[in-house]
Amino acid sequence: MSKFDPIIDVEEDGLLTPTVRRWSEEKYSLLGSYANIFTTSMCKKWNQLVYLDLFAGAGYARIKSTNRLVMSSSLIALSLPVPFTKYILCEENKEKFDALKTRVSRDFPAADVTLIHGDVNKKVWEVKRSIPRYGKGNTLLSFSFVDPFSLNLDFNTIKVLGSRMNMDFLILLALGMDANRNFKSYLLNNSSKVAKFIDDDFWTKKTENLINSSDFMRFLSSTYDDNMLKLGYKEAADKQIVRSHVKNLSLYHLAFYSKHDLGNQFWNDMRKYTDKQISLF
Ligand SMILES: C[S@@+](CC[C@H](N)C(=O)[O-])C[C@H]1O[C@@H](n2cnc3c(N)ncnc32)[C@H](O)[C@@H]1O
Repeated sequence: MSKFDPIIDVEEDGLLTPTVRRWSEEKYSLLGSYANIFTTSMCKKWNQLVYLDLFAGAGYARIKSTNRLVMSSSLIALSLPVPFTKYILCEENKEKFDALKTRVSRDFPAADVTLIHGDVNKKVWEVKRSIPRYGKGNTLLSFSFVDPFSLNLDFNTIKVLGSRMNMDFLILLALGMDANRNFKSYLLNNSSKVAKFIDDDFWTKKTENLINSSDFMRFLSSTYDDNMLKLGYKEAADKQIVRSHVKNLSLYHLAFYSKHDLGNQFWNDMRKYTDKQISLF
């Protein structure tokens, strides 16, 4: 496999650069390492390899505690030693979208990139239509990184993209950051955000026995896995729990889903390797 360090330092360029917390480095490391195994191992077996970033960001991020300036998800994926053949990047915030667009065209002018501005839950069919055609003799494998701030990710978005496609997903489930903090109000208000997240309008009927927010997080996580099984995905691989460095609180779970055993094997191998790297931080 090609050697690749996903934490890539960059110079200040005057464009919008969101500030992120230190634990984002763990996310970037896992994303970049998985994407590297994916393209290196699959480039000879498939004609087209497609990367989708549904909550793409601005391309650069500043780590708050260290002030370090690094590439964020989409640009990490564009920097792989063996690149994807096609990139589809969606970002809702106009300023971040513009910064991303400028950075992509300046730094990766030769890459085949479709940039989509807007709410991915509404633009999902535009995203799907941007995936190149494939068929017999022209095979296509895709990998989608899904990195929302909260539970604001409709399961329908995953369903539209994952149905009848060879698409691996790495999804940030904002269980600690959102589900845990807002547990009571979501239950009280029969939250439609939660209903959309797990594709179940009657979800509160299944939560009557839940005692606390930890039960709620477990319920969301296992319901998500069941939903993915119904789409034809394998039994979920172990999720990576990303914790805050300060209080060691669980912030989010990175969940990996593939329709192929090899995908889960790559994810598990890569987690062991990345755990060692992360413990060096
Ligand atoms: C947690 S940040 C992740 C950014 C990036 N993936 C990274 O590596 O740092 C989530 C991003 O998604 C964008 N966003 C939020 N809701 C969105 C939506 N419904 N559709 C598309 N983008 C959205 C936000 O503006 C933000 O840039």
